[in-house]
Amino acid sequence: MPYRLSRLGYIEVRVLDLDDALQHYVNVLGLIVTGREGRRAYLKGWDEKHAYSLILTESDTLGMERMAFRTVSPEDLEYYKDRLKKLNVPFATIESDYKRGEAIRAETPSGHTVELYYTMEYTGNVLPDVNPPPWPMDLKGIGVPRLDHCLVTAADPTKTIRWFENVLELRPSEYVLNGSGDPIAAWLWQRPAPHDVAVVPGPDAKFHHCAFAVETPEQVFRACDILAMTKTKIDYGPSRHGITRGTTVYFFDPFGNRNETFGVHSAYQLDPDHKPICWTEDALGQGVFYYEREIIESFLSVVT
Ligand SMILES: [Fe+2]
Repeated sequence: MPYRLSRLGYIEVRVLDLDDALQHYVNVLGLIVTGREGRRAYLKGWDEKHAYSLILTESDTLGMERMAFRTVSPEDLEYYKDRLKKLNVPFATIESDYKRGEAIRAETPSGHTVELYYTMEYTGNVLPDVNPPPWPMDLKGIGVPRLDHCLVTAADPTKTIRWFENVLELRPSEYVLNGSGDPIAAWLWQRPAPHDVAVVPGPDAKFHHCAFAVETPEQVFRACDILAMTKTKIDYGPSRHGITRGTTVYFFDPFGNRNETFGVHSAYQLDPDHKPICWTEDALGQGVFYYEREIIESFLSVVT
């Protein structure tokens, strides 16, 4: 299958107070503010090459406003316009947005807003283009290099998983299957990585977490130290997932949106013909939290 979606390009997250949110996302996570307009701030990790990967929007409610995938080429955006028309999937064309060109916007069966775009202002990362060092020395907090993925909940997860597979042509790296063999949770991607988006059972249109990359298990422990030093509420971790093998810590922003640092995962990219790894429902606990083998209550019940 051709490769048409390069990555989860950005997400928009609603927060109750923009200044308090920036204190967390800049000083704890270490994201860099690249723009601010009215009730919105635009941020990115130090190794990201485009204008932003996270929009924080001041609102009366929490959760994720939208997720957006960047296409590999302008032609791929046209391909998806044609594909959605052929499949009778309703979509809107959005002419432009902050430092971004045209996008198309559709809704998943679970009520999540998904955009596809190609053009966004290219900024390069924060390192020089010539003879760069491996990382910048002046990072704040955890100093995450990039947005990795988001995870959303769906009342009929199988239907939403099939939508991502059939409409956007995302592929599963891993599935949780019910007794009938239908996926009730999936980790989905098109680029060879563990996932750009994951879908699990839960209420429609809700946001479970957004994850930022870290490169080593030591960096996960360092992230935990920083979370503790800044009195940031940790939900779970440090630990390892069975699904994706990723190392993890989950924590909350000042309002209750869940964040994760995630890294050191399976190397699916070495095998482009990778077939999905399957987990049975009775092994779900170990799939999610490999060491405890059962899922803590807050992880199941807290969504925004
Ligand atoms: Fe995650």
